[in-house]
Amino acid sequence: MAILPILRYPDPRLHKIAAKVTRVDAEVRKLIKDMAKTMYAAPGIGLAATQVDIHKRVIVLDISETRDQLHVFINPEVLESSGEAECEEGCLSVPGIYEKVRRAQRVRVEALDAEGKRFVLEAEGLLAVCIQHEMDHLVGKVFVEYLSRLKQQRIVAKLKKQVRQAM
Ligand code: NI
Repeated sequence: MAILPILRYPDPRLHKIAAKVTRVDAEVRKLIKDMAKTMYAAPGIGLAATQVDIHKRVIVLDISETRDQLHVFINPEVLESSGEAECEEGCLSVPGIYEKVRRAQRVRVEALDAEGKRFVLEAEGLLAVCIQHEMDHLVGKVFVEYLSRLKQQRIVAKLKKQVRQAM
């Protein structure tokens, strides 16, 4: 298993659209293992393949405190969503930035698991928010893009400063 480098906003590769996984094979299973390792090491609660520059519809997440409840979603699709929730979000591709985003409170999602088996999950609260956040990555959207233009510019400036200071 390998820890993969995570793309940082505003890297243009974060805007690529991920392709559907046609077969859950050894390569996809290795990607899932590497993504899980990368997410736990970061540490983070969710990671989309897009963030590690692999443009396939694969998401991993774990919102448990014990860090042992890995959820894998391959080709996730939202079947139904309802309600409204505003949650402070962060992102491994946007380090150190936390902003409130409005999303659906509940989602019903269909996906394939790591074995390629179809499942349907009803999620609400943090899990629902996380799923929506990660699914956005698969269509090239980063959470800060829900914010005003001015806020986005400030965030980009702040991230550039972080990179300069790290050099
Ligand atoms: Ni993210």
